[in-house]
Amino acid sequence: MTPTPTFRVRLVDWRDASAVLSRIRTTVFVGEQKVPAEIEIDGRDPECVHALAESATGEAVGTGRLMPDGRIGRMAVLAEWRNRGVGAAMLEALVEEARRRGFREVYLHAQIRARDFYLRHGFAVEGGEYLEAGIPHVGMRMTLGDGGQVARGKRD
Ligand SMILES: CC(C)(COP(=O)(O)OP(=O)(O)OC[C@H]1O[C@@H](n2cnc3c(N)ncnc32)[C@H](O)[C@@H]1OP(=O)(O)O)[C@@H](O)C(=O)NCCC(=O)NCCS
Repeated sequence: MTPTPTFRVRLVDWRDASAVLSRIRTTVFVGEQKVPAEIEIDGRDPECVHALAESATGEAVGTGRLMPDGRIGRMAVLAEWRNRGVGAAMLEALVEEARRRGFREVYLHAQIRARDFYLRHGFAVEGGEYLEAGIPHVGMRMTLGDGGQVARGKRD
C-alpha cells in the first residue's frame, strides 16, 4: 500500500515566498481555471499573510491568504495534492491567525464549487450568487467569537 504523502503548513510573508506562492496560483487560477493573470495578481499580496503548504520533500503544493480586513482568499492546492486535507489545514491556519489578530469574523468570496468545502469548515453563505472573473461565486462568513476587530466585509 502506498503511504499517504504528508505535508506541513506554515505562514509566510509575500516578500519571502512570492515566487513559490505565485507559481502555485498561476498554475491553478490562470492555467487551470483561465482567470486572467491581471485579475489574479491584484497588488494586495504584500499586505496579506500567506499560508504555504509544502510536501515532506519541500515541494510547495498549496497556498491561501488572509487580508488585513479579515478576508480569506486565493486558496489553491495543486491538482495532484487535492482531497488530502491540504486545503483544510491551510484554512485552519489562516482562521487561527485571524483569531490571533483579534478578528471577530472572517469572510470570503467562494467559488460555487468550493462552497461545501467552506460550509464544512464553519462558514455560512450570505447573499446570492454573482460572477467574479467569469466564475460563479457566493459570499461566505464565519464568526470567530468576541473581542477584537470586526472584518469590514466590503466587496472589492
Ligand atoms: C478548494 C481547494 C483549495 C480545496 O483544497 P483541498 O486540499 O482539496 O481540500 P481538502 O482536501 O481539505 O478538502 C477536499 C474537499 O473539498 C472539495 N472541493 C471543494 N472545491 C473543490 C474544487 N474546486 N476542486 C476539487 N475539490 C473541491 C472536495 O470535493 C473535497 O470534499 P470531501 O472532503 O467531501 O471529499 C482545492 O480544491 C483547489 O485548489 N481548487 C481549485 C482552486 C479553487 O477553486 N479555489 C477556491 C477558490 S474559492
